[in-house]
Amino acid sequence: MIKKYLMTPGPTPVPEDITLSMAQPIMHHRTKEFKSIFNETKELAKQVFQTKNDIVIFASSGTGAMEASVSNLLKENDKALTVSAGKFGERWGQIVRAFGAEAIELKYSYGDYAKPDDIDKALKDNPDIKAVYIQASETSTGVFHPIDDIGLMLKEKYPDVIFVVDGITAIGAVDVKTDDWNIDIMITGSQKALMLPPGLAVMSVSDKAKKTIENVKNRYYYFDILKEIASDGGSYTPAVTLIEGLNLSFKKILDEGLDNLFKRHTLLAKATQEAAKALGLKLFAKRPANSLTSIEMPVDSTKVINLMKDYGVHVSNGQGELKGKIIRIAHLGYFDKPDMVMAVSGLEIALKKLGVDIPFGEGVKKAMEIFVEE
Ligand SMILES: Cc1ncc(COP(=O)(O)O)c(C=O)c1O
Repeated sequence: MIKKYLMTPGPTPVPEDITLSMAQPIMHHRTKEFKSIFNETKELAKQVFQTKNDIVIFASSGTGAMEASVSNLLKENDKALTVSAGKFGERWGQIVRAFGAEAIELKYSYGDYAKPDDIDKALKDNPDIKAVYIQASETSTGVFHPIDDIGLMLKEKYPDVIFVVDGITAIGAVDVKTDDWNIDIMITGSQKALMLPPGLAVMSVSDKAKKTIENVKNRYYYFDILKEIASDGGSYTPAVTLIEGLNLSFKKILDEGLDNLFKRHTLLAKATQEAAKALGLKLFAKRPANSLTSIEMPVDSTKVINLMKDYGVHVSNGQGELKGKIIRIAHLGYFDKPDMVMAVSGLEIALKKLGVDIPFGEGVKKAMEIFVEE
């Protein structure tokens, strides 16, 4: 028997009480009881998203909300700026093009992060750009984009442009101030820091975005943001079970307190990053996120990951061109200090078995030292 430690950046582990909250008899969705849970969940979401904007919950993975943010905002031939510094940034361009709109792609190499000045220039060069699409944390590379500076720059210089942020590996882990940073649409998915199984996409939508959506009728039916906002308890059959779990997830996040939660994620990120450096390894991200750590491997990372899996620790490979080159260790959601010691020990054992010359034990030691100092 191998005890399994799921340390991938989604899906992530689900706490026992959340699992149990979803093991109740099924409730009908058109009951007072369910509507009250649904509406309360949306109110709790506002606190976690740090917004006063409307909340929409779709029964889909995160990409469903990404698609809705494109199909509802852009008409055919509209122009959008998509920031691409990894696989998920590239997805923005693909979705925009799928709806017949024009994606002006601001491209960075994998591992790099977006610069507000580049976005400013792209908007100056293309004054008809209607919306900017970006990730908060680009999960494929472990980079965190400066969405605070970008949002504030847009507010000052381009107040009509809609700012859409994929916060799928940020919300519930990293301090992202949706309203203060001028974010019109903020998106997340259930299977990341919200500590739930996959299946829900949650998004916040500003009044400015709603006004734009009113003037667009594109090709969508199910992913109709305004219809969802206007509905009482969801337009169709909501994912009742997952929403009960989401309700508890938000309560747990708010019980911990957002500040404590952000501090926990910062600490786990620091321990993982410093442990990697103590082993003589290089971080891949130029601006690392607090939700996951991407580390360059001196040997084929697929081999490292397979040996870590034999030891019980499941981490992720690089995606696309990064496959075989990096590993990605998650620390978003239901993770705490011992988990990171476990992950680093798995990494050290795998590297040692592969004959890589590392200062064996120094990574685990460094992580533990950081926890002692804290
Ligand atoms: C930043 C980011 N965007 C989008 C997605 C896609 O989300 P989903 O697989 O839930 O559709 C992911 C999933 O890993 C992600 O991390």
